[in-house]
Amino acid sequence: MTSITKAACIGGGVIGGGWIARFLLAGIDVAVFDPHPEAKRIVAEVMANAERAYAMLTGAPLPARGTLVFCETLEEAVSDADWIQESVPERLDLKRGVLNKIDAAAKPDALIGSSTSGLLPTDLQRDMQHPERLFVAHPYNPVYLLPLVEIVGGEKTSPETIKAAIDRLGPIGMKGVHIAREIEAFVGDRLLEALWREALWLIKDDICTVETLDDVIRYSFGLRWAQMGLFQTYRIAGGEAGMRHFLAQFGPCLQWPWTKLTDVVDLDDALVEKIGQQSDEQANGLSIRELERIRDENLVGILQSLKGGNGGEGWGAGKLLKDFEQSLWAKGSVASEPDLSRPLRLVDTKVSPAWVDYNGHMTEHRYLQVFGDTTDALLRLIGVDLAYVEAGHSYYTVETHIRHIGEAKLGQAIHATCQVLSTDDKRLHVFHTIHDTATGDTIATAEQMLLHVNSAAGKTVAAPTDILAKLRPIADAHAALAAPDGAGRQVGQKK
Ligand SMILES: NC(=O)c1ccc[n+]([C@@H]2O[C@H](COP(=O)([O-])OP(=O)(O)OC[C@H]3O[C@@H](n4cnc5c(N)ncnc54)[C@H](O)[C@@H]3O)[C@@H](O)[C@H]2O)c1
Repeated sequence: MTSITKAACIGGGVIGGGWIARFLLAGIDVAVFDPHPEAKRIVAEVMANAERAYAMLTGAPLPARGTLVFCETLEEAVSDADWIQESVPERLDLKRGVLNKIDAAAKPDALIGSSTSGLLPTDLQRDMQHPERLFVAHPYNPVYLLPLVEIVGGEKTSPETIKAAIDRLGPIGMKGVHIAREIEAFVGDRLLEALWREALWLIKDDICTVETLDDVIRYSFGLRWAQMGLFQTYRIAGGEAGMRHFLAQFGPCLQWPWTKLTDVVDLDDALVEKIGQQSDEQANGLSIRELERIRDENLVGILQSLKGGNGGEGWGAGKLLKDFEQSLWAKGSVASEPDLSRPLRLVDTKVSPAWVDYNGHMTEHRYLQVFGDTTDALLRLIGVDLAYVEAGHSYYTVETHIRHIGEAKLGQAIHATCQVLSTDDKRLHVFHTIHDTATGDTIATAEQMLLHVNSAAGKTVAAPTDILAKLRPIADAHAALAAPDGAGRQVGQKK
């Protein structure tokens, strides 16, 4: 798969900000042009939400965050980018003007995606000098969490552009889906608009309130849609006879007066006020940012449970997350020639908002997570990486003893070190310490025993010589260090 090396985002609002966060968290440098006087603040707020969501989403080693630059001109922003994403307001004249400027200033082989929700790419590319590299890349809000991008070409878009665009989305954890023919609003917004139109009628006609309508979705078919979509859900609804039976049973209903779909509701002042008021009541005082954070936590939960779906293989968006994480684990390596004269520094991180409890302190299980990440980093260092685990062997942790000595607070920079206490061909005995990076003080320690196993057989076996050859020099060097304070302690033991 080919990767994006430098991105430019033209427009940094709701959607542009989401793209910026998606790129930065995938380690890609981003140049932004947005004349809005508060563009930096708005992007920073989206980025804060995105970082919080990623901290909950994955324990895989994310690449170093890309650098973010705000440019004075569009030309400066796009000049050396290889993916340019246009996310300016949904007006054809405005978008055309912006895209023509991008076209004139970009590298000839740069890919140019438009976030438009419904304009035709053929209309967007009409006046471009190099229209073959323009395509619609329609994402979903929040772009940093929802993986889908509808990729739509216009009459002048080349097939190579479509392929290149889809290829480049994989490494940033997204799924590009090619829509075979361009139509207004593509596939997603066609569906959403049909549903929305019907929903507006239901509110206008006092059939239900906005809250009841949302409940009908979120307690029922909304849950089904997230994991199987529409057609596969209906296949199951057809019983053992499947889809054909479902069509025979419910197809005729389409002719009944079940829906008002073709009529467009008049969104007059009274209806706008009615919906606005019901929506305010439903929000119950929660701000948009608060609702965004709740939404993100829920989406993370859904994605994580889908990751464990299909007997652990992953399902739908969860399978995509699993694949993305595996690519991160495969890439995430630590220095190959570590300094053995001291405990190995293996993890550097910050206490994220998702890690703190109501007191603003790092919550208990996050300590184990950081210690687990430290162990994983040690294992990768000695060659026990994803490929090794997939081939059927691994080290399993069989015992952990954690001591809480200091406190880690929200936003605090922390790092973890590891001292190997002893090892033989099956056992690996380690001592980890989490430090306050600013002062070096100890915040917590963990002593762990790991055993080398044949995972399929579920049996302890000797580690192979190439793994031991990497482990032993570390263990020998660490044997010369002083025993760490607290090594060998048990719960409640007197000092
Ligand atoms: N909001 C959504 O849920 C959603 C979902 C998918 C796609 N989209 C599409 O994304 C695009 C942007 O929508 P949004 O919701 O982010 O809007 P928005 O109003 O939040 O952001 C638009 C941004 O573009 C900036 N801008 C205006 N003129 C500009 C110019 N000439 N050059 C650079 N920046 C300029 C504005 O200052 C603003 O920050 C639209 O095409 C929209 O259809 C929106």
